[in-house]
Amino acid sequence: MIILSIETSCDETSLALVEAKGGIKHPKFRVIENIVSSQISLHAPFGGVVPNIAKREHLKNLPVIFNRILKNPASKKIEAVAVTVGPGLEPALWTGVNFAKEVKLKLKTDSPKLKLVGVNHMEGHLYSFLLSQKTQLPVSDFKFSKTKTFPAIGLVVSGGHTILLLLKSLTEWKRLGETRDDAVGEAFDKVARMLGLPYPGGPEIEKAARKGDENSVLFPRPMMKDKNYDFSFSGLKTSVLYYIRDHEEQSKNKEFIEDVAASFQKAAVETLVYKSMRASKEYKAKSVILAGGVAANKYLRKSLSKAAFESGLNFFAPDMEFNTDNAAMIAAASYIQILKKKRRRIAAESNLTL
Ligand code: KG4
Ligand code: ZN
Repeated sequence: MIILSIETSCDETSLALVEAKGGIKHPKFRVIENIVSSQISLHAPFGGVVPNIAKREHLKNLPVIFNRILKNPASKKIEAVAVTVGPGLEPALWTGVNFAKEVKLKLKTDSPKLKLVGVNHMEGHLYSFLLSQKTQLPVSDFKFSKTKTFPAIGLVVSGGHTILLLLKSLTEWKRLGETRDDAVGEAFDKVARMLGLPYPGGPEIEKAARKGDENSVLFPRPMMKDKNYDFSFSGLKTSVLYYIRDHEEQSKNKEFIEDVAASFQKAAVETLVYKSMRASKEYKAKSVILAGGVAANKYLRKSLSKAAFESGLNFFAPDMEFNTDNAAMIAAASYIQILKKKRRRIAAESNLTL
């Protein structure tokens, strides 16, 4: 089936056309279009996303991107319209939800059975690895198959969430732990700001860290050795803040920034990898699945994939274009939902989680 999907939960306006087929054990996807219009440059001067600017830009961008999508011949065969209903910024979510309802009315004449599917944004992230035809990682036998995948440990890391899951199948999971304070993406963004790097900070930290010495500062790894599977990144962030304050005279120095970025990144990633691998041992997982905007971080991808392979586990992560917010992942999650015959209210729900 051809799915048109819409994502407006934060600062990216995105529409995708995805062909989905197969059953729940082997869902297959072909991304026909995945158009992402980023508003980053408009929010950057404010150091974060401004909800009303996001709403205004989504309203402006949605019809423009939709008209581009309509030029694709596959748009004549749309059988489902999928839209992110949450979590996210409420005014931003409503723009997508209302637009999806309008689109459904417009397209209904050609396809009277057209479905409207409300999607959880975090499920979109979780399933984004299914969109990969190949992977950028050193996995030679990238094949999604039940025997090599489940039980799986899922690490979902974004700007608003840090969640560790135990997945029995694609659709059955238990939450093992989550962050008690800041999400890891949020910590990257805040540390970047302390170092005078632009918003969004995650990619900037990664770039600076490449040239830095990751062993120059030993930052704490809060809760890493605790028995539970929860995380805490606020203490790490505060330690970085104190370190920068204590070395104020060097804080504008390029090398200092690179060293702090690398040391912070190492501390954050080590905690994520340590707990994911401990969970994989305890629950005898066959694979580790990484997802969410922070999954774009190559240092995290490398560290976690290496740890998984060394333990004889498979490793799955989305292709680079599907890590940060995009509509293709919403189409993947909507298809799983359609297969499961699960229905969700078509209304913004800013606090949804996994
Ligand atoms: O999933 P996402 O696009 O939006 C949310 O649902 O939150 O994630 C955005 C988060 C931001 O905090 C951003 O700084 C972080 O992902 N991020 C990264 C990288 N790329 C994006 N963090 C670390 N390294 C990156 N390369
Ligand atoms: Zn996201």
